[in-house]
Amino acid sequence: MKDKILKIKDKQEAHPVAEFFLKRFSPRSFSSKKIPVADLETVFAAVRWTPSSYNRQPWYFYVAEEGSSSYKKILSTLSDSNKVWVQKVPILILACYIAKDEYGQNSYAQYDLGQSVATLVYQAQILGLYSHQMAGFDKKKVSELLSLPEDHKPWVVIALGYLGSYDNLPEEVLSKELLPPKRKDQIYTVLK
Ligand SMILES: Cc1cc2nc3c(=O)[nH]c(=O)nc-3n(C[C@H](O)[C@H](O)[C@H](O)COP(=O)(O)O)c2cc1C
Repeated sequence: MKDKILKIKDKQEAHPVAEFFLKRFSPRSFSSKKIPVADLETVFAAVRWTPSSYNRQPWYFYVAEEGSSSYKKILSTLSDSNKVWVQKVPILILACYIAKDEYGQNSYAQYDLGQSVATLVYQAQILGLYSHQMAGFDKKKVSELLSLPEDHKPWVVIALGYLGSYDNLPEEVLSKELLPPKRKDQIYTVLK
């Protein structure tokens, strides 16, 4: 099944797009294999170099390993449709934006957090790690459970790990995985 999914998700591109863009997709089956600490450090080393408005770097990440109490807390805040496949993912990352810093309110904080998560996703993919971002979680509840500082605003949870076997995946989840990748064709206009 894993090979079948990889084939479905493999994108063909007429232009010389780097392989890690084409290989990436957001899987719903992760192996429980642990991520080497050095790889996790590499991912966040890359994230640090993300550009941001006025270089304010309005992001913060909480990393929870499977088995830890923080992991269970984050898991408990996920929507039911996410909980069903996020069980043994080795790492859950809660990505927060910092809405207000020493310079005041930051209206580009969410934009910049998004860029930093893109860096995370692609550096991870280059290392052979898959990721799946989720907006389906209770932001207020996670803030309370993890006692987050007031200025750290939870925005997305990221499942990170190696691709799983796809055995024993509930039918309703597997059916989503079997869908071919889809994108809009027209996303830019060259202006005169
Ligand atoms: C901000 C954001 C929130 C998302 N939330 C969820 C989610 O709660 N559950 C889920 O299964 N996928 C979620 N996704 C994954 C998207 O559905 C997925 O990226 C999109 O369908 C494109 O598929 P691909 O990443 O495999 O190319 C989210 C992605 C992003 C960027």
